[in-house]
Amino acid sequence: MAAPVRKAVFPVAGLGTRFLPASKAIPKEMLTVVDRPLIQIVVDEAREAGIEHFIFVTGRNKSAIEDHFDRQPELEQALAARGKTAELEALTRDLPAPGETSFVRQQEPLGLGHAVWCARELVGREPFALILPDVLVQSKGKGCTAQMLDVYEAHGGNIIAVEPVPDDQVKNYGVVSIGEGDGRVFPIDFMVEKPAPGTEPSNLTILGRYILQPEIFDILSAKETGAGGEIQITDAMIRLLETQDFHALKYEGRTFDCGSKMGFLLANVAYALARPDLGPAFAAEVKKLL
Ligand code: UTP
Repeated sequence: MAAPVRKAVFPVAGLGTRFLPASKAIPKEMLTVVDRPLIQIVVDEAREAGIEHFIFVTGRNKSAIEDHFDRQPELEQALAARGKTAELEALTRDLPAPGETSFVRQQEPLGLGHAVWCARELVGREPFALILPDVLVQSKGKGCTAQMLDVYEAHGGNIIAVEPVPDDQVKNYGVVSIGEGDGRVFPIDFMVEKPAPGTEPSNLTILGRYILQPEIFDILSAKETGAGGEIQITDAMIRLLETQDFHALKYEGRTFDCGSKMGFLLANVAYALARPDLGPAFAAEVKKLL
């Protein structure tokens, strides 16, 4: 039986340059989709999947994330005094229990692979989920991480969530080449980061959700740089594929790349429309705007 996945790593140390000036003093991961910060939405997804420990790889100017996952006694007292019990309960529900969160600093944003490597001591020698907080997956049933853990239970090894994108966009992503599967889960033959046009092995791109084995840390410790001079997680996974199995999951759900302005705006619209308390009125207002 495959070792259980108990921990999730959330890299949040990037500079968020595509979101300046909003991300100058506020971490990009604290930007809200409707009224929930991006980082809270992905932590909810991990908790729903049964993850027990939440590891954040942070940097300078990111302390708002740590504060967000802490108690706020003054606010709690004020809500209690005003009889706002529903709001108080909601705040309490969102909080991981004491001891379930850990924070480590990357010190310098040298790339996603380097951010993951910074979590090595906190993860230890066990498999873990890697969840990028700027990618949201809105699903009808189970969340993306829970879907991936189901696949992990069946296949073990390493699992990558993949999404088909239009052919002209494949060059911007890490891409997988797959063998024969069941229409949903496929063995991965090889991977390539940002393939030159005409050399793409498929249109299935690596999206921002992974289940990885701890041997990835051994490869990342070489600190080899790749595309853009950054230490890339895809390069390390390509090396790990030489000795371990990887499966790709075409998950159920709609993806929003909230690291881009367009994806972030669309996520706000989609999540607002899906909210029972807001959706109908919001749809009517948007129709008027258009
Ligand atoms: P991105 O490349 O989307 O984020 O990384 P970024 O670098 O902050 O954004 P831009 O491109 O400058 O606008 C995906 C995730 O990985 C984290 C980011 O914080 C983001 O959540 N990351 C990236 C790190 O933690 N460290 C890094 O060195 C790079």
